Amino acid sequence: MREGRILLARRVNRQEIVRKFPRREDQLLPLLHALQRANPQNYLTPDDLRAAAEHLRLPLAAVYDAVTFYSMFSLFPRGRHIIRVCRSPTCHLLGAIPLIEALERELGIRIGETTPDGFFTLEAVSCLGLCDRAPALMIDGESFGPLAPKDVRELLTQYREVKR
Ligand code: FES
Repeated sequence: MREGRILLARRVNRQEIVRKFPRREDQLLPLLHALQRANPQNYLTPDDLRAAAEHLRLPLAAVYDAVTFYSMFSLFPRGRHIIRVCRSPTCHLLGAIPLIEALERELGIRIGETTPDGFFTLEAVSCLGLCDRAPALMIDGESFGPLAPKDVRELLTQYREVKR
């Protein structure tokens, strides 16, 4: 019964979100971001993709293409906050690997996993455009760097306190 109520609430909420967007193709990415943000598990469901396609009058395949092209979208459940740590050449040379190891140790998870409390997902990505601050990472849209392994505990603790 409770599960049914949650599903109904998600459907109603989805339609409310979709209706806020003009029916134009250039609204696809903002709409997908809004739908993903509204999901407590931070991902897009098949129903989200269908709702976006119907509302914007786009083929479902075009919506699927966008979702699978951009790494900020996910088709699988994730944590509420996404840590994207860069491992491209500049960050790699300046310490991305020890930084990633410190993140994995502190979070108790590996790259691609979510903490048991669902708070953080850890992802390794290509250049974040923060090469002058390497090694760098982003949590949601916020950038941090240069970071050393010793900075990780304080960064995560502060982030948890602020975003709780
Ligand atoms: S190489 Fe890491 S931000 Fe560019």
